[in-house]
Amino acid sequence: MAFVGENDAARLAQLIRTRQPCVVLTGAGISTESGIPDFRSPTGIWTQYDPMEYATIDAFRRDPGKVWEFYALRLEALAKAEPNAGHLALAELERRGLVRAVVTQNIDGLHQRAGSREVIEVHGSIRTATCLACGEETPLDRALPLCPRCGEIMKPGVVMFGELLPVGAMERATELAHEAGLLLVVGSALEVYPVAALPEETLSAGGALAIVNRGPTGYDGRADLKVDGGAGETLSTLLRA
Ligand code: APR
Repeated sequence: MAFVGENDAARLAQLIRTRQPCVVLTGAGISTESGIPDFRSPTGIWTQYDPMEYATIDAFRRDPGKVWEFYALRLEALAKAEPNAGHLALAELERRGLVRAVVTQNIDGLHQRAGSREVIEVHGSIRTATCLACGEETPLDRALPLCPRCGEIMKPGVVMFGELLPVGAMERATELAHEAGLLLVVGSALEVYPVAALPEETLSAGGALAIVNRGPTGYDGRADLKVDGGAGETLSTLLRA
């Protein structure tokens, strides 16, 4: 059953303490307080850009320059972003031995910069660029990089619609979700598969679900706790609970 009230943080703290190990699954909602827009909320990126034109592998093959224009904007926003209270709270919970790992759909690297050590990036990262022609990977420091090995235009090292997720990362994420006593979802609408199947992995193995998210997700009815509030505020209050 879901429970919303002023002692959400106390309830969440109790769940984390009693349902170990706790694994965290984050989405774009944990980074909006760092100035990085999310995708599906009313101010999200997909309300201004059509993902079919900018975020699919076919779109990239069709017009890499156009996709790089989009990513140049994202690179700018990401370069200015700093970890926020939500990222810092998760790193502190890991230090206290209360969070085993963070599985993130985000490509911004803010969890690592906040001090989280066990971070699984299931949608890749904007830190690198990859070459579709020869597989070369290089650090991404500017838009439209050309492959140092074969000269082709490289793509951002993020998973685009129509691409497979990094196999190792998704296997590890699935294993962590399967073994989790509690999967804590923070800032994700849980609408994009296969990541959106991770809560099912936890529930079907007998684990529990807690969700901190502004707005509904498809799993709200199956969560032991749903906090419809801000990630930063909820997770900082949690630290003090
Ligand atoms: N605190 C809590 N929740 C928030 C906050 C916040 N400060 N800001 C936004 N949210 C909520 C939004 O209301 C929304 O429900 O976070 C959720 C973010 O959902 P999405 O925008 O769908 O982001 P995400 O779930 O990460 O998307 C998954 O979709 O486009 C692809 O590859 C992209 O990794 C991304 C994937």
